[in-house]
Amino acid sequence: MKQIFPILFSIALISCNQQTDQTQLLQKRVDSLEHQLAETYKPGFGEFMSGIQVHHNKLWFAGENENWKLADFEIHEIMEAIDNIKKYQKERKESEMIDMLNPALDSLNNAIKLKNPKLFKSSFITLTNTCNQCHRQTQFEFNVVKIPDQPPFSNQDFRKQLEKK
Ligand code: HEC
Repeated sequence: MKQIFPILFSIALISCNQQTDQTQLLQKRVDSLEHQLAETYKPGFGEFMSGIQVHHNKLWFAGENENWKLADFEIHEIMEAIDNIKKYQKERKESEMIDMLNPALDSLNNAIKLKNPKLFKSSFITLTNTCNQCHRQTQFEFNVVKIPDQPPFSNQDFRKQLEKK
């Protein structure tokens, strides 16, 4: 009976050691994953803005051509970029202000739904003014957005395509 205690004690010690080994291994893996996560590429605020810039431009020409399907697509690209700013750029204080675009976007969505060129134009001007309002408020006033004169790319046709019946 006396010998059994040292044996039990040794078993307990071995399993305890095994557990520490496993904990250390897990900690190593957690550290490595955390490192990988920190190194993962995510677009910066300016990159999202450059994307928005392209869709802002295309949206204008879609509206000009009364190509409402394309306009609907482009405005949703802008809205997606806004969602991504909120998701991936939480640490930037400017992200808290991004919803200031909502009233102008709602109005544009409405114009697209109603296929109303006049409402589209006035809402697009409001949207553009709101872009610049935020740039001024965030000390990026040197980034001035305007109604575009030309589409961003020459390889896209903004005219409405004949729908197949
Ligand atoms: C919430 C505030 C805010 C709103 C609203 C906003 N922007 Fe910006 N924009 C910024 C900030 C901040 C930067 C600078 C980003 C950086 O640090 O690179 C910027 C930069 C830009 C740039 C320069 C990007 C580059 O790298 O050259 C463009 C173009 C731009 N915005 C277009 C727009 C357009 C178009 C809209 C409206 C549809 C808009 N922005 C709305 C805050 C805003």
